[in-house]
Amino acid sequence: MKASFGLWFIAVFGLTSMPAFAAPPASAAASRVAEIVGTRCALCHGPDGESASAVYPRLAAQHPDYIAKQLKDFRDGRRKSDTMADMVKGLADEDIDGLAGYFSGKKAASRQSGDGDLAAVGKFIFQRGNSYSGVPACASCHGVNGHGTHQLPRLAGQHPAYLEIQLKEFSKRERTNDNAVMHTVAAKLTELETRAVAVFIGGLQ
Ligand code: HEC
Ligand code: HEC
Repeated sequence: MKASFGLWFIAVFGLTSMPAFAAPPASAAASRVAEIVGTRCALCHGPDGESASAVYPRLAAQHPDYIAKQLKDFRDGRRKSDTMADMVKGLADEDIDGLAGYFSGKKAASRQSGDGDLAAVGKFIFQRGNSYSGVPACASCHGVNGHGTHQLPRLAGQHPAYLEIQLKEFSKRERTNDNAVMHTVAAKLTELETRAVAVFIGGLQ
């Protein structure tokens, strides 16, 4: 009785607790990237860039140039963030490029849209802006599906809570790197529009 319970225990918990990076890495560089992801990034952003908490941005399918630029900006103090400054401390440019390639290569998981009424307001702002207050359509830069470009971040499917925080930081210029364009956009959004557009974007695939 005891022995069979033990086997059951190993069968269930032994398998579920297997390390995420069990497969042998292809090269030394890949193994270093996998080690950094496992020891420094996965806790908040998930091993596949699908962060579980809404305040940690999703990285899966984000453009590699954008990820690499943000990491270098965190490291060199251009984008202020106490959390991320610690995470990128001591990383070489090659590590950063490897991490950018790793997370951008992950597939974005499927999304669920939140409150339908709010999302409808958000869709209007995203696609058409607000001509009464001078908010431009987000789609004009970030693309109709929010997929961005090599120069512009992907927004589709990002956590609404993270998006709201960033929009408020852009509005107050507390996001310290390259905030000129987004400052003029975010400063014109009302609280309701900010929330609505974040909810809409969070449901984009
Ligand atoms: C303790 C939690 C935590 C860990 C661990 C962590 N991050 Fe972050 N990360 C954050 C938070 C919070 C932000 C939002 C930063 C801000 O604006 O203050 C962020 C932002 C980012 C961004 C910017 C995303 C965007 O859309 O602009 C990238 C890229 C990133 N992290 C990559 C990494 C990598 C790579 C690692 C491992 C080396 C890592 N993070 C480890 C919490 C974490
Ligand atoms: C004129 C072009 C332009 C328009 C219009 C625009 N954006 Fe942006 N957006 C940018 C640029 C450029 C960046 C990258 C800033 C950087 O490199 O740090 C950005 C970054 C962002 C980010 C940060 C993404 C991240 O992962 O941290 C968010 C969120 C965002 N934009 C939301 C919006 C929303 C919502 C709208 C519409 C209300 C909008 N943007 C309209 C150019 C634009």
